[in-house]
Amino acid sequence: MECHNIKTALEQTPADIAEIIASKASEEDDVDYGQALFQEALQLQWDPQEKFGWNKVPSKNDPILEYERFPIYHVPEYWDRLSDIERVTFNRKASAYTISQFMYGEALAAYAAARCSSFIPGVYDKGFLALQVVEEKRHADVFRRYLLEALDGEVYPISTPLQMYYENLSKESRWHFLFVALHIVIESVAQAGFENMAQYAQDPLLQEIVSKIEEDEERHVAYGMMTLKRKLTEIPRSELEELARFAHDSLVLVSGRYFPEHAYRAVGFSKEDIDRISALSAESPSRRDFRKRTIGKAWNNLTELGLLGNSELPQIDALYEESGLTALMQ
Ligand SMILES: [Fe+2]
Ligand SMILES: [Fe+2]
Repeated sequence: MECHNIKTALEQTPADIAEIIASKASEEDDVDYGQALFQEALQLQWDPQEKFGWNKVPSKNDPILEYERFPIYHVPEYWDRLSDIERVTFNRKASAYTISQFMYGEALAAYAAARCSSFIPGVYDKGFLALQVVEEKRHADVFRRYLLEALDGEVYPISTPLQMYYENLSKESRWHFLFVALHIVIESVAQAGFENMAQYAQDPLLQEIVSKIEEDEERHVAYGMMTLKRKLTEIPRSELEELARFAHDSLVLVSGRYFPEHAYRAVGFSKEDIDRISALSAESPSRRDFRKRTIGKAWNNLTELGLLGNSELPQIDALYEESGLTALMQ
């Protein structure tokens, strides 16, 4: 059989496919770049069944996260009212809420990666993104299984901001906009969320799970950054500004506050108590530090891409000031 180099092979490919391949394969660097990313992703696949010790799920009496992680722990006036059993109940319900949102976030990432794969032109990127769809689906399945086996199947509905995020993504078909929403905003925020959960997980199984998923997210974010850096040099300034606004609005949506009110109700707190705890929690230095760490990676990545802190787009920095994110990051 005759051996072709890639350019010859392209000449023998149907025209429409050749056009797609040529958009990436015309430069040797692009071939190496896409192929290396794809190979790395292939080599790092893992089986959730073998990877984690599912036979060691916590019992119904075990807390899931360290108590210090919850703002109420730092307010003796309320914390001292709870018995040991109520503290465990609170801990498990609040943890189930957060892990439910992680599960929805992963399902949303699978959907967004599938859209990116559809709209991006190059076959190398399509391959990487198709594999990312599989990885995000795996992440969602692992969180779902954890909720079923470790938390009695206590699954909470998707939060309003995440639902809005999904709706925004489903209306967008420009791949670089989808990349910013997926790889730069939500995956950077997820990375920080997983790091935080690994730090505060009292259950070793959950710690293993979030640490492993965080490794995949790191690769996804790195891929998004590399791909976007190329693209953003090609788009006109007006589109760069539109993209920077889109990034800001996306970050505002995911940086909102998640307060597990149901967990407080389940251990007998009144509406007045819950409102007061919520207000105290919102103002606490630990809560502020948590929010800052949550958006810090996305903030740095947007800055590196020139979508924030860009002297040519001062109107974007004004947006961040108006929404309070600049004050939060200082
Ligand atoms: Fe993921
Ligand atoms: Fe991811």
